[in-house]
Amino acid sequence: MDAQTAKAIVEKWMIPTPAGAYMAGLENRPIIARAEGIEVIDTTGKRYLDFGSGQMAAALGHNHPRFVAAVEKSLKTISHSTKTFLNVDRLELHERLGGILTSPLQKSLFLVSGSDAIEAAVDLARKATGGVDVLALDMALHGSTSFVTRSLTFGWGRAKHRLAAPGTSAILTPYRYRSPFGDDPDFVEKCLSVSFEIADANFTSKPAAVIIEPVLSAGGVIVPPPGYMKALQKMAHDRGMLLIMDESQTGLGKTGKMWGHLHEDVVPDIMTVSKHFGAGLPVAAVTTSAAIADRAVANGYFATRSHACDPIVCAAGVASIDIIEQEKLVERAAAIDKRMRAQLEEMAKSIGAIGEIRGRGVLFGVELVEDRTTKVPANALARAVVAQCQDEGLLVQSRGSHGRTNVIRLVPPMVSTDDEIDRGMEILGKVLGAHGRDKKDKHAGLTRHSARPR
Ligand SMILES: Cc1ncc(COP(=O)(O)O)c(C=O)c1O
Repeated sequence: MDAQTAKAIVEKWMIPTPAGAYMAGLENRPIIARAEGIEVIDTTGKRYLDFGSGQMAAALGHNHPRFVAAVEKSLKTISHSTKTFLNVDRLELHERLGGILTSPLQKSLFLVSGSDAIEAAVDLARKATGGVDVLALDMALHGSTSFVTRSLTFGWGRAKHRLAAPGTSAILTPYRYRSPFGDDPDFVEKCLSVSFEIADANFTSKPAAVIIEPVLSAGGVIVPPPGYMKALQKMAHDRGMLLIMDESQTGLGKTGKMWGHLHEDVVPDIMTVSKHFGAGLPVAAVTTSAAIADRAVANGYFATRSHACDPIVCAAGVASIDIIEQEKLVERAAAIDKRMRAQLEEMAKSIGAIGEIRGRGVLFGVELVEDRTTKVPANALARAVVAQCQDEGLLVQSRGSHGRTNVIRLVPPMVSTDDEIDRGMEILGKVLGAHGRDKKDKHAGLTRHSARPR
């Protein structure tokens, strides 16, 4: 299909995207025709290294042969099924997922999208605690369904929706690079005490939960400092609230451990899984302990969708766990972390626009600034870098929150070879070097934080 035909279809048939949204101007971008491994190929035959892992859900690469075989088998046996009977693939997926969950997480239910899973996790926390209010970080993204998940997605600015779900409010993101407390060694403590003083005043009833991503991805790849998660969980538990971890972007190996929460000594009370859980097909899970599940169910909890437990998506889920285990992708993500981090740190020596490098495993953010001392966000530079990388055959996105879109997010699939990583980093280095070398204070050095471990 040529660009002209595509534009005509967009203009006539598609509901447009608001200007300024990250999906705006789709008609001027390449049109994807197919993919091979970690590359996507557009309708002109141009190839791109997919350092966005699709919409973060192609972390196992595109069309992995084991995934294709599982889906093909399903298409020939049974792809959709009633929820009023169990099916073999669903049972297998419960057992396989249960086998890799951190104890005492053990129980799961399946849904379709990540947003579905968050809605269901919030409901689970409410039914288990008898509470209502839910807190999320002010730079978080937890989904786009009306009402609950977009109300908990503070990073996008929920004011545009005009109406927010009752019982949802924000707490401060522990964003050390732009800390309101300067370089205070008690940063974690201060973030939490201010957050909960306001939260306590905001609660409209008994609180139910606080939800957090182990790494705030869309908010700008923000890694909470050491000790934050543990202290957050304690403050939540002190109030009878549960800790929900949204592992949509961090689960199943992406951070170099099976789950993002394993980097901190914290087991969530409830955890959600989505994105590459289906290796390319939409399947999501809510997981919790038997005790919490029993309490919620006694209060009438259940959650499902017509396609939630279809054999085809459950078979894809089993294939995804197989691929991760058999190809040792958790270890591979940790190795990619080392390789990318070293290359990014090398770039930062001569490129003054790099303010901070953050991330874990295959989820990295490079925060671009006008000046390392003032840290003015370099939004225009980030836009130019994304566009030029695309021209050079590398797909990356820029992210951030509260008007900042200055973090280049890099998410190469976990199956990437060293050569593919190096090719992507070479393009990024060349593009950043061309645009960002002249930024001021390159000698000021990258920001290093001295978080007080607790
Ligand atoms: C952390 C996080 N949670 C939830 C969601 C929502 O997932 P979905 O778009 O599959 O509904 C996303 C989507 O990007 C996400 O990044």
